Amino acid sequence: MPKGNYQLPSLKDAKIRTREAVKIEHTLFKLPETTRNLGVGRKFYLRTYGCQANERDSETIVGILVAMGFSQTQNEEDADFILLNTCAVRKNAEDKVLGELGMLKKLKTSNPDLIFGLCGCMAQEEEIVQLLLKKYPQVDLIFGTHNIHRLPELLYQTMMSKERTVEVYSKEGDVIENLPVKRFGKHKAWVNIMYGCDKFCTYCIVPYTRGKERSRLMNDILIEIQELKDQGYKEVTLLGQNVNAYGKDLGIESGFATLLDEVAKIGIPRVRFTTSHPWDFTDQMIDVIAKHDNVMPAIHLPVQSGNSDMLKIMGRRYTSEEYRSLYDRIITKIPNCTFSTDIIVGFPNETEEQFQDTLDMVDYCKYDLAYTFIYSPREGTPAANMIDNVPADVKSERLQRLNEKVGQYSNMNNQKYVGKEVKVLVDGLSKKNDQVYSGYSEENKLINFTGENIHEGDIVRVKITDVKSWSLNGEAIEE
Ligand code: SAH
Ligand code: SF4
Ligand code: F3S
Repeated sequence: MPKGNYQLPSLKDAKIRTREAVKIEHTLFKLPETTRNLGVGRKFYLRTYGCQANERDSETIVGILVAMGFSQTQNEEDADFILLNTCAVRKNAEDKVLGELGMLKKLKTSNPDLIFGLCGCMAQEEEIVQLLLKKYPQVDLIFGTHNIHRLPELLYQTMMSKERTVEVYSKEGDVIENLPVKRFGKHKAWVNIMYGCDKFCTYCIVPYTRGKERSRLMNDILIEIQELKDQGYKEVTLLGQNVNAYGKDLGIESGFATLLDEVAKIGIPRVRFTTSHPWDFTDQMIDVIAKHDNVMPAIHLPVQSGNSDMLKIMGRRYTSEEYRSLYDRIITKIPNCTFSTDIIVGFPNETEEQFQDTLDMVDYCKYDLAYTFIYSPREGTPAANMIDNVPADVKSERLQRLNEKVGQYSNMNNQKYVGKEVKVLVDGLSKKNDQVYSGYSEENKLINFTGENIHEGDIVRVKITDVKSWSLNGEAIEE
């Protein structure tokens, strides 16, 4: 290994779950004197892959870099520091990043002082870090999801020593409260309510890359949301890999239902949350969602498979029947609720009949939206050791059949809105047409519409006129 500072990830350590209390740190993050002006006159370029957890981490990273004096550029070629915040959930997510690293390599020739960094979930993977060390000499700095607060020191060290720095803690994780943040949205904000995951679904890398399930204190969350409301934010999305487990580690009974109720009472116009694991979705939660007009009637409820044997092997902790019953209970109490889901096809040894059960589940729940994936083996997870007899072409063909069905229901559900009125939080002008505004309805439908005197951040009433594959068109109703 070339000279440098190395603390490498360990899969073995990442698996450990102890009963030790989580440290909630209100003063841990510091900007040492030496790092305070490090970014003055320098620019950074940040690219984010993966889920909302990573989006939110990127807002922290930008907050830290701006506090160090850096300014942000949208052009890689202008940057003194390029950072990729990466995702490890499927192989194709990793391949994208590795491809990007290859493309960006040439920038080092024109700018030898350029610092290249990689963080996020790929940095937590032993195998990937080994690959980067061997084959990607252009990467100067690697830090993990538990090391974000260390960015000022790590960057300083890399820039001063001109040696490689790798610092990845493989630990259960803390909760660090005093990190800076530069929010990307002016009207919609992400709010972490918990970190990590303890579900260990057999296919999934997240519990290894993000540490144990640990909740923020309710008070810290409520203060943050009150501040967002005071700043004029219209929508918050409460984030966690499994928000329904909120508070379990703090010993709070019905933690998520209680939290959601308190958040709704703050009175911010829109509250969303993601992701809810079907396993601990309680009736009390359904009641809280039904009770508050500002908790949006749109639930992301990943099913993964419609077959109970498959769900068991996946480690999902619910059966196909239990999922249906949960769906029924939600739709009975919240009749206008829309549903989205995640589905994996081609899990090891999935039979045609088992896949058929997944199609049946889509018929049953008539999802508004489904994110569908071909199973991708992840090193270190139990499923990666299962011998798989499903050929790749069968997997692709199943994905295609599934997507067709999902598309039919999505379209069918959208048709029901024609002639109806929805409330839209305006994101701004549509990307495709500067005469048209776009935003999301309460049900989380993308709406493109025309109107007069419309401003970003307004909530406007829109009458739906027609339907496109993934969006609805409409006209604002004059007040
Ligand atoms: N915590 C969320 C999911 C986060 S990962 C939940 O449990 O609902 C987002 C989605 O990626 C998962 O729901 C799953 O459908 C998919 N996914 C995760 N690991 C995968 C793998 N190894 N191969 C294919 N898809 C995977
Ligand atoms: Fe992964 Fe399962 Fe945790 Fe979701 S609940 S992040 S799929 S292990
Ligand atoms: Fe990807 Fe990590 Fe999120 S693996 S999906 S960025 S938690």
